[in-house]
Amino acid sequence: SRFSTSAANMIKKITVIGGGLMGSGIAQVAATTGHKVTMVDTSEDILQKSVKSIQASLARVGKKKFANDEAAGKKFLEDALSHIKPTVNIKEAVKDTDLVIEAIVENMDVKHKLFRELDQAAPQHTIFASNTSSLPIGKIAEVTSRKDRFGGLHFFNPVPMMKLLEVIRIPETSDETYKKLLEFGKAMGKHTVECKDTPGFIVNRLLVPYMMEATRMLERGDASAQDIDSAMKLGAGYPMGPFELADYVGLDTCMFIIDGWHKDYPENPLFKPVPLLQKMVADGKLGRKSGEGFFNYKKSSM
Ligand code: 3HC
Repeated sequence: SRFSTSAANMIKKITVIGGGLMGSGIAQVAATTGHKVTMVDTSEDILQKSVKSIQASLARVGKKKFANDEAAGKKFLEDALSHIKPTVNIKEAVKDTDLVIEAIVENMDVKHKLFRELDQAAPQHTIFASNTSSLPIGKIAEVTSRKDRFGGLHFFNPVPMMKLLEVIRIPETSDETYKKLLEFGKAMGKHTVECKDTPGFIVNRLLVPYMMEATRMLERGDASAQDIDSAMKLGAGYPMGPFELADYVGLDTCMFIIDGWHKDYPENPLFKPVPLLQKMVADGKLGRKSGEGFFNYKKSSM
């Protein structure tokens, strides 16, 4: 095909920077698909939590995959874990890696600081990718001397369950780099789609304004959160309604995305900030992770 690479040329060793929800998921799936993974974060404490969450997720996947074979399930879990090396040492983690996937905080200055360091420490052949959901890949790449070996790999939460991978190219991304990224995505068992470096790529460009429009509907008092969610699940076949999804993604993340786009494109009405969302975030209602968002997740109330 237009994009096929010889086996010798394929991405085998990867480094994931960031052991949060996305980074852990990416490390997990890469490990279960035969890649050697190094996972980097800033403290042993965080890394321990990441490994714990990977273990829990692997157990869920294994339980289903090997329903009638406990030993095979255990082996699946142990094999995958043995392919993930957690470390706080960035230089060591990238010294012979084929691909670095960045999944850290959505802050341009912090990403720039990281990529400057990576650009110094990583070998020539290493490809860099960002898992950013809303920042321009081209802007992140600016601080490196390898824009031809730079792209976006945008995964979806929960990474082990969601089949899609958006593969983003910037104008400088070489054809060789791009085809390696596409092949890596397929090797991870994902369905890849090709995206340009536009706000939100494909999924978030549609999904985020949709969640914001639902919030505006709630703000106007047109319907309850529960009914809007039921309507979209039962009337449009979505697995989660817009509010369940927003709580799942995190309301701070949703707000960060929409407010950032509004700053860059003030004339676009789809990107208008949503006061209700801003108030909830200011009140510490961040969704599932804080125990409350549009819905309540505190154990006592369940
Ligand atoms: N790890 C492993 N397995 C998991 C998992 C995880 N983290 N989360 C869910 N699963 C699996 C489990 O196998 C579970 O079965 P189990 O009960 O035996 O453990 C199975 O999923 C079903 O899960 P549930 O019964 O709990 O719930 P659902 O049937 O609703 O499925 C879902 C869960 C797959 C998350 C589904 O609700 C869904 O597809 N929701 C939409 C998610 C979505 O839209 N994600 C994209 C968000 S946008 C994004 O990520 C971009 C970012 O940039 C903002």
